[in-house]
Formats: sequence, structure tokens, C-alpha cells
Amino acid sequence: MERPSASLEFIALAHLLSWALLLNSAICANFSELFQPYWAPDHIVTQGDLTALTLDNVSGCGFESKSKYLFGKASVEIKLVEGDSAGTVTAFYMSSDGDYHDELDFEFLGNLSGEPYLVQTNVYANGTGNREQRHSLWFDPTADFHTYSFFWNSHTILFLVDNIPIRMFQNKEKNGVAYPRNEAMRIRGSVWNADDWATQGGRIKTNWSHSPFVSKFGSFEINACELSPESNEVEAKANCGRLSRFWWNRPSLRKLNKHMRHQLRWVQARHLIYDYCKDTGRFSEVPRECAS
Ligand SMILES: *[C@@H]1O[C@H](CO)[C@@H](O)[C@H](O)[C@H]1NC(C)=O
Ligand SMILES: *[C@@H]1O[C@H](CO)[C@@H](O)[C@H](O)[C@H]1NC(C)=O
Ligand SMILES: *[C@@H]1O[C@H](CO)[C@@H](O)[C@H](O)[C@H]1NC(C)=O
Ligand SMILES: *[C@@H]1O[C@H](CO)[C@@H](O)[C@H](O)[C@H]1NC(C)=O
Ligand SMILES: *[C@@H]1O[C@H](CO)[C@@H](O)[C@H](O)[C@H]1NC(C)=O
Repeated sequence: MERPSASLEFIALAHLLSWALLLNSAICANFSELFQPYWAPDHIVTQGDLTALTLDNVSGCGFESKSKYLFGKASVEIKLVEGDSAGTVTAFYMSSDGDYHDELDFEFLGNLSGEPYLVQTNVYANGTGNREQRHSLWFDPTADFHTYSFFWNSHTILFLVDNIPIRMFQNKEKNGVAYPRNEAMRIRGSVWNADDWATQGGRIKTNWSHSPFVSKFGSFEINACELSPESNEVEAKANCGRLSRFWWNRPSLRKLNKHMRHQLRWVQARHLIYDYCKDTGRFSEVPRECAS
């Protein structure tokens, strides 16, 4: 079997692979080993396994992984801003650099006390986004920690909440739709003020007398193809999406299994609030990737 000369980190879970194992596999490291602040370090406080991100009237903040990754799974547990979080957005996302960047987003849109958060997801490929979906959740995401994950390989991308798929984005390159598989991405988190659009269409503004707004992140698990700064990037990228010894390249992970198909259908029936694919007011032609 070919060995990449590039420095690739991978987790050898080679034999027992299945979705079941995928869902349980765990690579943990502490925050400062994996991440660094990219915005307002003084608003980011790590204590033990938890990292608190604060938004106040001075600043929001954000962190990013030191390494870039291409394919695999990245998870974090988050407990969102409690009480009045209207106008705030907490984000867990992955993005590459450059003009034609790739990006996968979870954006948690705050709300007034007692009103439900919404989760907005988006997929950018080669610089093009505009692929929003919005979901309600089946629990109060401010009451406890829940797990949010990205799984992606060169065939499919899943957005998971407590390991339940809420969204799938499939590779439709054969239909001329760019797919995020050429750029390694950093894993990032942030809290920021977005009261021009986030809550009830921007009608509800951030009430700064309720600040600071704090979201807590913890239990990071990154089980993915890592590109270190020394990697031969071209070769490493090719290998990340190709070598069979990487668990995410298993043929069985190109599609959802039956159980997860049921889960996704349940989420779509009960919790999907907005889908850009159905927004005929916004897109006169149905976006090409939406055709099944
Ligand atoms: C995290 O790892 C760094 C580097 O290994 C170590 O210095 C630090 O004490 C660790 N922090 C915690 C909270 O475990
Ligand atoms: C920001 O909040 C602090 C503490 O609540 C307050 O003292 C200060 O006046 C505020 N600054 C602005 C610019 O609103
Ligand atoms: C990305 O978009 C640019 C500009 O439209 C285009 O030139 C390039 O070929 C695209 N790359 C891929 C991989 O689709
Ligand atoms: C906030 O609460 C209102 C009222 O329940 C709801 O219509 C809206 O979808 C919720 N979320 C956001 C992000 O506005
Ligand atoms: C902001 O919160 C304060 C304290 O709860 C409240 O008195 C005030 O009415 C709120 N402002 C707005 C615009 O809702």
C-alpha cells in the first residue's frame, strides 16, 4: 500500500469500520494544542476541558485550528448563550483560505428568552455559498451541551447533531456543481453580533444590557486527514481522499445507511424550517445540486 511521503495524521481504525464505529470513535486533545485565537484572544477563556467565548459591546471572538484538514470528522460539544441571546450568532465552521474558498457552517441564531434558537447550515464550494438551510432543534441547546459534527469525504458531507444527520450534501460534480474536496480547511468557532439579520429577520436587536453573551465549547474530537505545514500539499490532498486506509474513504460511507436515512427523513419532516432548494422567490431556477 502506498505511503504518503507527506506528513499525514490519521487514526488507524482500519478494520472494524462502520457507521456505528464512526459515531463512537474519539480523538481528544486539549484546546491549546489544537487551536489558537484568530480574533480577540482576551474574549476566549479556557478552563479545563471548556472554552468560553464571549461577545460583549466591545467585541466578539473566534478561534481556529492550527492545522488544516481534508475529509474525516470534526465534532464539538457546545452549550449556547443562555437567556436573551437575540442578535447573537455562535458559529462552528470549517473554512479554507483564498478567493475561491470552501466552507461548511453551523450557525446558531440566538433569540429572545424562551424563544427557540435556529441552526443555519451552509455549504460553500469554490467560493460559492447561498445554500442555507435552517432547522429547529428537538432540545434546548442552552440547557446542556450537545454534539455538533461535520463528516465529509469526496462523495458526501453530513451535518450531524448528537450524531443524527440533519443535512446531507452530495457530490454533484458530474452535474457541474463544485464540491468542497480540493481545499483543506481549518476548524473554527466564533461568537459575534449579527443583529442586522440573525433574529426574526433582523427585527430583534442585541440587547447589550444582557451582555456578556457566552457560549461554551468543549470535548473537541478531530478524526480527520491533517495537513501539517510541512506537507506536500498537492500529494497530501490527493491521498486524503483516495487511500483506502483512511476510514472516511470506505465505500460504505459514500451514502447513508438505512438507520441514518430514517433519521434524516425524520429531521426533514419535523425540524426543517427553511431550505434554499425550495426558495423559488430567491432562485428562479432550482439550484442544480438540489435535483435528486
Ligand atoms: C494542554 O496541553 C498543553 C501542552 O501539552 C499543556 O501545557 C496544558 O497544561 C494542557 N492544558 C490542560 C488544561 O490540560
Ligand atoms: C459597554 O458595556 C459596559 C459594561 O456594561 C459599559 O460600562 C459601557 O459603557 C459600554 N460601552 C458602550 C460603548 O456601550
Ligand atoms: C473555481 O471557480 C473559478 C472561477 O469561477 C474557476 O476558474 C475554477 O475553475 C473553479 N475551480 C473549480 C475546481 O471548480
Ligand atoms: C425566534 O423566535 C421566533 C418566535 O418564536 C421564531 O419565529 C423565530 O424563528 C426564532 N428564531 C429566529 C432565529 O428568529
Ligand atoms: C433590554 O433589557 C433590559 C433589561 O432586561 C430591559 O429593561 C429593556 O427593555 C431591554 N431593551 C429592549 C429594547 O428590549
